Amino acid sequence: MNQIKIFSPATVANVSCGFDCLGFAVNDLGDTMTFTKTSTKEVKITDIKGANLPLEADKNVASAVALLMLEKHSADFGLEISIQKGYSPGSGLGSSAASAAGAAFAVNELLGKPFSQLELTKFAMYGEKVACGSEIADNVAAALYGGFILVQQYEPLAIVKIPVPEELMLVAIHPQVKVRTKDARDVLPENIPLADAVTQWANVGGLISGLYSQNFEVIANSLQDIVVEPARKHLIPHFDLVKEAAVNAGALNAGISGSGPTIFALCKGEENAKKVYHAIEDTYTDKGIDFTMVYSKINTEGVKILEQN
Ligand code: HSE
Repeated sequence: MNQIKIFSPATVANVSCGFDCLGFAVNDLGDTMTFTKTSTKEVKITDIKGANLPLEADKNVASAVALLMLEKHSADFGLEISIQKGYSPGSGLGSSAASAAGAAFAVNELLGKPFSQLELTKFAMYGEKVACGSEIADNVAAALYGGFILVQQYEPLAIVKIPVPEELMLVAIHPQVKVRTKDARDVLPENIPLADAVTQWANVGGLISGLYSQNFEVIANSLQDIVVEPARKHLIPHFDLVKEAAVNAGALNAGISGSGPTIFALCKGEENAKKVYHAIEDTYTDKGIDFTMVYSKINTEGVKILEQN
């Protein structure tokens, strides 16, 4: 194989209670990337459409991941990478993760698949480090595995794939303000009271249990974040208003997608998701802030091949 074109999905990390350990993939929103083998051992970004991102091989997330993998495998070829960003960086929808996971997946294919999915996750985590300074797995694992994932452990890395109820729908609003992941991590508390930790980990357990049993009442009750959301919500314009509107329109609940500013709501069924979509959209109309909306099923597939030759 000389060339591969892939689609790597956007992702919602944390999913309220699961800071740095829960995530899921989004349908139809993501990066389209083409990787072409070259005879020189260099990795070069030929073009990036849809976002203003670094072109230097060691600073761009996709090429940084590719360089590391080619080096680890002592590859005898280089790469040209062309990236079409489907949405903007700093959205809270795992933009850097989509590029990192897409690169890990594609380079593995071009190398003849020497690496496992878990190893690809680790390579993609290196991309997250290049992007924001932290080797976080929740977005990249969701993009690579598809569906809902739990980062059960970081050292050594362990990823668990969680089943997704068929009727589960995502509605999200992306206010066009930038929140850098690093800044959103800087506002987090270093310590939390034991009682808050108990509430939070009980909710993670509840959410996982609700997803397995397809019990939407348990899912709704568990979609709460008393640790990270209170520290971050001031970074997001009209967060409380959107959340209230979503819940009043029948969403299971709403919260911050990743490190924000995107606000996500999970819904049961398309009819409800449409209501929630309009309720959320209405809250931002006439507020003077541009925004885009997302309406999607949960993507259970993860990174996928579009073309190869
Ligand atoms: N779990 C991460 C955070 C996701 O909330 O900071 C952002 O990459």
